[in-house]
Amino acid sequence: DWTMENFVDQEVEKIQAKVGDKKVLCALSGGVDSSVVAALIHKAIGDQLTCIFVDHGLLRKNEGDMVMETFRDGFQMNIIRVDAEERFLSKLRGVSDPEQKRKIIGNEFIYVFDDEAEKLKDIDFLAQGTLYTDIVESGTETAQTIKSHHNVGGLPENMQFELLEPLNTLFKDEVRALGIELGVPEEVVWRQPFPGPGLGIRVLGEVTEEKIEIVRESDAILREEVKHAGLERDIWQYFTVLPDIRSVGVMGDTRTYDYTIGIRAVTSIDGMTSDWARIPWEVLEKISTRIVNEVDHINRVVYDITSKPPATIEWE
Ligand code: XMP
Repeated sequence: DWTMENFVDQEVEKIQAKVGDKKVLCALSGGVDSSVVAALIHKAIGDQLTCIFVDHGLLRKNEGDMVMETFRDGFQMNIIRVDAEERFLSKLRGVSDPEQKRKIIGNEFIYVFDDEAEKLKDIDFLAQGTLYTDIVESGTETAQTIKSHHNVGGLPENMQFELLEPLNTLFKDEVRALGIELGVPEEVVWRQPFPGPGLGIRVLGEVTEEKIEIVRESDAILREEVKHAGLERDIWQYFTVLPDIRSVGVMGDTRTYDYTIGIRAVTSIDGMTSDWARIPWEVLEKISTRIVNEVDHINRVVYDITSKPPATIEWE
């Protein structure tokens, strides 16, 4: 009968039979799907798997190090970490349109991955964390448009790989259970959705290093306090955004003219619709105080109380 243990055994055998002594490449983002697919394939073929982790410099605080700790140190996987912050930031300079930013980040992601993959020899397979729902959804035109809009990247066009998609019969909750079975840490398995373009779409308008830093630091404080309050699993997504406005404040005897941080926290089933999360006022108060005190150039914090629709979850 069907148990997760049996599923793992079966899939491991299938992967071994299919791959033989050949090599597999996987783009690891640290998200749930790519993490679980990497763990499963690693269990089957060990060192025949190489992962490429592209750090575009738009990740949350400590995220890159966490990925390396978990998979390189923990699982002992072959992982190539590409620090590509410079490449992405220089491409984004002067660009403020959200869709343009998405396109630039998505394309650059493919170029970076492509450059790294070309250095590797004799790769035959490309592993992808495609889920059952990804396949079903791409059957309709609207869903296809939504997907291509939401997924960063795709396949480098000139690459001749055979695809390996061992999760393509599973739903999200089954992928999480599989992850746990394989020893993927809970923080990864239960990680909140994080958009491919990352903090690049949470700095509204033009992206600069300084603004990325502001949004990253404020986001880290928000996450720390949500965790501290034990609300992590109740909230679908929670993050900060940095709108491109400044306003007047006062600090001591001095008038300030600085940025505002927006807090977005929503409950949702699937991200298609959402409601703003009723975070207790004391928790919000603590978050606000800490952000203003600890993050330079912030003199005001606001809480987004719109549902989706009419607002979207992200601000861009
Ligand atoms: P919105 O903002 O459209 O977001 O209500 C719905 C869900 O999709 C995520 N999202 C993205 N994910 N690339 C992604 O991989 C993107 O460009 C992107 N834009 C939004 C968002 O975080 C939420 O979970």
